[in-house]
Amino acid sequence: MSDRPDKHIPTTLHPLTQAVHAGNEIDRGSGALRTPIVMANSYALPDDPSQISWSGTDVPLYTRNSGVNQLALQAKLAALEGGEDAVALASGVAALHAVFFTFLSTGDHVVVADVTYEATWRLFTELLPYKYGIQVTMVDASDLDAVRAAVRPETRLVHIESIANPTTKVTDVAGVAAIAHDAGALLSIDNTFSPPFVFRPIEHGADLVVHSLTKYINGHGDAMGGAVIGSADLVRQIKQDAMVDVGGVISPFNAWLIMRGSVTLPLRLRQHVRSAQAIAEFLEADPRVAYVAYPGLPSHPQHELAAAQFGGAFGGMMAFAVDGDPETQNRFAANLRVITSAVSLGHDESLIVHVGTSGPRVAAYPPQFAQWGHLRFSVGLEDTGDLVADLSAALDATFR
Ligand SMILES: Cc1ncc(COP(=O)(O)O)c(C=O)c1O
Repeated sequence: MSDRPDKHIPTTLHPLTQAVHAGNEIDRGSGALRTPIVMANSYALPDDPSQISWSGTDVPLYTRNSGVNQLALQAKLAALEGGEDAVALASGVAALHAVFFTFLSTGDHVVVADVTYEATWRLFTELLPYKYGIQVTMVDASDLDAVRAAVRPETRLVHIESIANPTTKVTDVAGVAAIAHDAGALLSIDNTFSPPFVFRPIEHGADLVVHSLTKYINGHGDAMGGAVIGSADLVRQIKQDAMVDVGGVISPFNAWLIMRGSVTLPLRLRQHVRSAQAIAEFLEADPRVAYVAYPGLPSHPQHELAAAQFGGAFGGMMAFAVDGDPETQNRFAANLRVITSAVSLGHDESLIVHVGTSGPRVAAYPPQFAQWGHLRFSVGLEDTGDLVADLSAALDATFR
């Protein structure tokens, strides 16, 4: 069946078309319209392998270098984010570490946003300085003057989150990119909270975009993965240093699942965003709710920046608290019937988790987070009215 046609979708087509087709080839062996799951550790070599690069990553050779499903997913992710290439890894944390491991050496300085996902914060406060001798300055990335003041001649990297986990702080990506580039540094950005169809950071000057694919891009809560997207040259370095030589490669099965999930990303995001806006407004209007942090609310400190930067789609993540102590927050979460108390985010189902006030990270949070803790809420794909009714009933049950 090797006379089957090749299917090449031009990269000039609309991103919605790319979301469906990019990376998916008609299988030359079977004619299947979907790239099959290829669970193989190793691929047959040509008769004369003397020209093969044993650390090459462009053709299927060995699954730690590349495989059919990884290559397909990488092509899809590059198209979604508007990058030249992508590397897919085992988890979002593996992708974050891959960036830091590849581009930072002993003595280098990195400027990091003071609010980030917990593992990122731990890497920069507990691991990278002590294990690798990396110098770190944490900064309020929403304050461009503070970012400018933090860079030094030996700054190699600035790392931020588009919408920060968990406070939803929003950063002016073009502004930070200009500061990083003036200093000769790269800008990497964790875009997990605002995936493509909400925001594409490369168009705003970011060099490297990191995703936990575990979240919105897969979207179904059944596979872990991570990725970095950027220029062909930067991604090649990550593949060489952090994939082939450190490992942390994604499994072909997970790559296939995430590839399938990614097809509906734009449609899912439309519903996440619509519901999140309605729910944030509902919660903010209820006097039993202490505060709501959601970039789509005019009360959000970076609402105007977010509106301009994200074109009116503010994502599906928010943080809020009900008026009470940690026991009350947990009772509220336990009173929910449709929304599940569990970690993770960006799944089809709504997830909520109460996180308390203790720990050094909280020092960088707005005061209301320190006072009440926060419920990190990932608004799912259920009917908006059902979610509002669930929250309303749980408020009634908690404050009876
Ligand atoms: C913003 C952000 N980045 C990275 C990660 C890590 O992703 P993973 O759990 O796939 O390693 C998470 C996980 O919650 C996250 O929220």
